[in-house]
Amino acid sequence: MLRLAFLGLSLCALPGLAQAQAPSPAAAIAAEACFGCHGPGGQGATGGAAIAGRDKAELAATLIAFRSNERPGTIMGRIARGYSDAEIAAIADFIARQR
Ligand code: HEC
Repeated sequence: MLRLAFLGLSLCALPGLAQAQAPSPAAAIAAEACFGCHGPGGQGATGGAAIAGRDKAELAATLIAFRSNERPGTIMGRIARGYSDAEIAAIADFIARQR
C-alpha cells in the first residue's frame, strides 16, 4: 500500500516536469491531417512541401495568411479556415518539433 502511494507520487511529479516541453496530444492528432499531403512527419511528399522542423512562428504566420487569403493557395486556405488561432499555434508548435 505504501509502495503504491509512493509510485503514485512519483508518477504525479514526472508529468509536471514533462508538461512544459511536451506538445499537446490534440496537436499531434491535428497534425496527422497535414502529413497525408506533407509526408510522414511533415518531411515532404510529392505535391506537399516539407514543413517539419520549420520555425513555429513562421509556420503559424503562414497558416494564418492562408486562412485570410492573404497568401493564395489551391487548398491550404480551405484547410486553415478549419482552425482557430489557438489550434494553429498548437499545430505549428508540434510540426516545428518534428525532425
Ligand atoms: C490536401 C493536401 C494538404 C493538406 C491536408 C495540407 N496541406 Fe499544406 N499545402 C498543400 C499544398 C498543395 C500547398 C501549396 C499551397 C496551396 O496550393 O494551397 C501547401 C502549403 C503549405 C505550407 C507552405 C509551404 C511552403 O513551403 O510554402 C505550409 C506551411 C503548410 N502547407 C502547412 C500545412 C499544415 C500545418 C497542414 C495541416 C493543418 C497542412 N498543410 C495540410 C497541401 C496540403
